[in-house]
Amino acid sequence: MSQRLPLLLIALLIQSSFLFEISSALKEGKTCVLNENCDAGLHCETCLANNNFRPRCSRTQPINPISKVKGLPFNKYSWLTTHNSFARLGAISKTGSLILAPTNQQDSVTSQLTNGVRGFMLDMYDFDNDIWLCHSFGGKCCNITSFQPAVNVLREIKVFLEKNSEEVVTIIIEDYVKSPKGLTKVFNAAGLQKFMFPVTRMPKNGGDWPTLDDMIQQSQRLVVFTSDRSKEATEGIAYQWNFMVENQYGNGGLKEGVCPNRGESAAMSDKSKSLVLVNHFPDAPDLIVACKQNSAPLLESIKTCYQAAGQRWPNFIAVDFYKRSDGGGAPQAVDVSNANLICSCDNFAACQANGKCG
Ligand SMILES: *[C@@H]1O[C@H](CO)[C@@H](O)[C@H](O)[C@H]1NC(C)=O
Repeated sequence: MSQRLPLLLIALLIQSSFLFEISSALKEGKTCVLNENCDAGLHCETCLANNNFRPRCSRTQPINPISKVKGLPFNKYSWLTTHNSFARLGAISKTGSLILAPTNQQDSVTSQLTNGVRGFMLDMYDFDNDIWLCHSFGGKCCNITSFQPAVNVLREIKVFLEKNSEEVVTIIIEDYVKSPKGLTKVFNAAGLQKFMFPVTRMPKNGGDWPTLDDMIQQSQRLVVFTSDRSKEATEGIAYQWNFMVENQYGNGGLKEGVCPNRGESAAMSDKSKSLVLVNHFPDAPDLIVACKQNSAPLLESIKTCYQAAGQRWPNFIAVDFYKRSDGGGAPQAVDVSNANLICSCDNFAACQANGKCG
């Protein structure tokens, strides 16, 4: 590698002087120097984990499926989902403390929303007389594992939903909150209660969800799940495992050719749960390897899980460092899933509102 580096630099310099003469809009896969060189929805990066030293324009955004068709049930769409959406690289805890916990994403929730992320996995804890986004240390949130009060991030989502009247967002809470009505209070404080899709409208026996159109018209555009069963009765917040199946998270979810359910979930093939989530990230988040994991192996994984889930494409595709890819990455996996859900083909660009491909 030490011998290759000077060459790479020379190549970059030539490339950059060349670039400044031509336009700044480069398509996916083209050599770039800066993010600004690439078309909208792309950024400039290398994938060293795949021996890809040439900086190329890579996808950061899926095609928004609502640009194609809004009349299908919610369970016929696939959404880019960030694992630990709140655990931002380089973040400093709002307590002022350094964070000694792993980080999983590179940008803020607002930036994720702009890039088309529509599923957010958030770990919530009672902490400091409030509810915080946090990791645990011995089951408890503490300064060095805490990120920020949940209400801050929920407000970012509220601003987005208010600005974008046709967008639907899903929050999946890993719920450690024990304070009475804690979740209700924090969603109220964020001004999100009015957008909540009611649990009473969620199909319990594998039926189709209301259509996206319907959710938009009624402005019930926030779908929230909790991992705490009791909250469905006490606060009307949907218990995730009544409505969704998920494969194993962490390293177990990266194994090729298999797609076992995670412990809390019913079997992947259980069609009494209408939603399918595919986890594809390692036990320990890895910024360097993420570009590789989010690319070809992720596409393989959604195909394996499609079979395991009784030929159902995932509604949610959850990754670390969603912007890292070796080309199409997680946005492409979401496109493939949407293309199959809406048009029964792999090419979402060619998929049309009438469900025909090309
Ligand atoms: C945690 O942070 C708060 C500031 O928000 C500080 O008052 C407290 O002393 C810190 N606790 C520890 C154990 O460092």
